[in-house]
Amino acid sequence: MKSVEVFAPATIANVSCGYDVLGLALETPGDKVVMHLNESKEITLDRIEGDEGRLPKDPAKNIVTAVVKYYLDQLGLQQGVSVELYKQMPFGSGLGSSSASAVAGLVAINELMGAPLSRKELLPLAMEGERLACGNAHADNVAPALLGGLVLIRSYDPLDVISLPYPENLFCAVLYPHVEIPTSEARKILKTHIPVSDAVKQWGNVAGLVAGFFTQNIDLIGRSMEDHIIEPIRAMLIPGFYEMRQLAMENGAIGFGISGSGPSVFALCDNEATGTEILEKLSDLLKKEGIGSNKYLSPINQAGPIIR
Ligand code: HSE
Repeated sequence: MKSVEVFAPATIANVSCGYDVLGLALETPGDKVVMHLNESKEITLDRIEGDEGRLPKDPAKNIVTAVVKYYLDQLGLQQGVSVELYKQMPFGSGLGSSSASAVAGLVAINELMGAPLSRKELLPLAMEGERLACGNAHADNVAPALLGGLVLIRSYDPLDVISLPYPENLFCAVLYPHVEIPTSEARKILKTHIPVSDAVKQWGNVAGLVAGFFTQNIDLIGRSMEDHIIEPIRAMLIPGFYEMRQLAMENGAIGFGISGSGPSVFALCDNEATGTEILEKLSDLLKKEGIGSNKYLSPINQAGPIIR
């Protein structure tokens, strides 16, 4: 019987100003899927750990088995598969939890079938998983989770995805406040129309951020990490958001923003020690308000999913 174990990473979607078009992969946390081929024609979900009993056990509804079925259907394959999912990151946290699970599942089944699809070819399938998870097939979590590194989705139709360079030694200090915000809800509250004056500021910053990453210009990256459209609305859902931003910036962050749809926030730092100090201060601040948090400090993950 053939088996494989795949780790797929958490991601920071949007990277501040790039709503739905920018995302980066973290080295930690992430989810693990173990998959076995068998002689049946069934896809079964044999074990889920780390979800506190909250994820659907029905293979038609669980994101991992659903994308595995979608993969096999797309390739016209009938194959018995049993799946184990080990959740190693919180849900509804803004860290791309469902994307990590879906990507781990897709990379695992693709590997077991002899890797007929490249990681880039798996992307549209992973986006379908995202549609199942939150009702919208955005790619700014699944693309970096699949490809690693920092990714730009220049266009959705046709899909045009570009891996960007970035300076070495960047660290993401991520704080997950213990408040749950489902992505679907955090998308519903956004405006559907924006003034051109806000759009001008936003595309100036997105272009500045991409230019900053290309030229390794830390100051340009920092001053481009400003979101005039999404953050002001979602910040209201995150306890102490502006106090956390001020604290992070006063303590040496390059920039600060909401990770994905929140409530996690992240400080981009140019060294590990600064990230560690900022995380301590942010979690202390929330503790005083009676809010618990998880801290993650990670470089950008260049490799993407790991097959074991
Ligand atoms: N770009 C998406 C959003 C990411 O901000 O809604 C969700 O994780």
